[in-house]
Amino acid sequence: MALMLLSRQPGVLLQRTSQLFACGHRLISQTAAKIDVDFDYDGPLMKTEVPGPKSRELMKQLNGIQNAEAVHFFCNYQESRGNYLVDVDGNRMLDLYSQISSIPIGYSHPSLMKLLQQPQNLSTFVNRPALGILPPENFAENLKESLLSVAPKGLQQIITMSCGSCSNENAFKAIFMWYRNKERGNNNVTKEELETCMINQSPGCPDYSILSFMGGFHGRTMGCLATTHSKAIHKLDIPSFDWPIAPFPRLKYPLEEFVKENQQEEARCLEEVEDLIVKYRKKKRIVTGIIIEPIQSEGGDNHASDDFFRKLRDITRKHGCAFLVDEVQTGGGCTGKFWAHEHWGLDDPADVVTFSKKMMTGGFFHKEEFRPNAPYRIFNTWLGDPSKNLMLAEVINVIKREDLLNNATHAGKALLAGLLDLQARYPHLISRARGRGTFCSFDTPDDTTRNKLIAIARNKGVVLGGCGDRSIRFRPTLIFKDHHAHLFLNIFSDILADFKTKREFIK
Ligand SMILES: Cc1ncc(COP(=O)(O)O)c(C=O)c1O
Repeated sequence: MALMLLSRQPGVLLQRTSQLFACGHRLISQTAAKIDVDFDYDGPLMKTEVPGPKSRELMKQLNGIQNAEAVHFFCNYQESRGNYLVDVDGNRMLDLYSQISSIPIGYSHPSLMKLLQQPQNLSTFVNRPALGILPPENFAENLKESLLSVAPKGLQQIITMSCGSCSNENAFKAIFMWYRNKERGNNNVTKEELETCMINQSPGCPDYSILSFMGGFHGRTMGCLATTHSKAIHKLDIPSFDWPIAPFPRLKYPLEEFVKENQQEEARCLEEVEDLIVKYRKKKRIVTGIIIEPIQSEGGDNHASDDFFRKLRDITRKHGCAFLVDEVQTGGGCTGKFWAHEHWGLDDPADVVTFSKKMMTGGFFHKEEFRPNAPYRIFNTWLGDPSKNLMLAEVINVIKREDLLNNATHAGKALLAGLLDLQARYPHLISRARGRGTFCSFDTPDDTTRNKLIAIARNKGVVLGGCGDRSIRFRPTLIFKDHHAHLFLNIFSDILADFKTKREFIK
């Protein structure tokens, strides 16, 4: 009921918010909600439960032709705007999950709508080229204006792909080829190599490996899946490689209370990385590269310190392995820097950085030495999509014009401060509140409670995502502002106040 008031009558929202402060019940919201009338909606508006009747009917239809059990609800993208996702039953929800973290500047952003309507851009949207062989005249310029304008330090070479998995998969290939060329010392490939690679045997197909971390997620294609260790359901029944898997630090919170324990935990993991490199070299499965996410996302929003990553970088250099940073989920500005790994202050840049999601196109940046030495070695039909690069250039303009990186830092602080406050008030429901920029999360006691909280929040007009076995993650757009954080915190505070745990029901 409160929600209906919030959404239909903005004036009532302001009045209600200030009344709440006056009674002294709310410690969370520091400012009244601000209303962006021209683009964003002013609040959630709920008409049915979610999924509503129309969504449920469509689910039934879709399930008849494919397994649609993962579908949450069906959407009306024409009506969705800014931070608000509208479903087919007319429910309007504050979207803090943004299509698994992949909407950079909100739904139907006016700048992108305008871009699509410009006659000179039409052919880019209508004709999708095979970029590797027949690129359009402006392709190099297009890449410079979009991806290269935000390239991580030291990485000026770029290859575009269509999704995150595809980006990691091809980054692995680039690393293997780099390593083999290093070993050969020249480009002379032997006849034996050419023959054995055709029948999947060495030396043409060397027994190389990529080291990954427990809890990591790098995609679902065959190579990527060998480095993905977040949920069994992703991996079950799929043959895989014997590649090394190191432990990822499990930090204790609050960080300031567990400095020593966390340092020891990180040192333990780094030691294990070195041991595995040595062990796999002995097994003749040389570790050619290490892949890591700046924040393990699908695996439960697991953080490590900047120092951990700097030391890991040193280890890769010491053992001659490539350092691949997977920024598919963390990239694009949500942590307050364009690339999350920029927070680390590396003195030697990463060797390869993969991206997708908020970047609109997949792909990877790499150092010059990882450039394929012949055509078609890293290749597919589309190699991305120039219309996505065009859109990305506009997204970057909006990010700069509206100072959205600082916005992510600011709004993220408001969100995390509110989560810490809720954690203090509801320690039986919320723990380990953590985050960088708006890339925030917290833990719940178990997956049943987590899933229940997500379902209740959705019915109250807030879309949240889960990750790991008990975490709730925040992945809002870059136009998520402080007032959206306060709006969410007020709604969620009510949910927590009303929430009955299983134990309370039994009493
Ligand atoms: C860190 C990371 N890497 C890779 C991927 C795979 O990307 P995609 O689903 O586009 O293949 C994801 C997807 O969630 C991801 O979070």
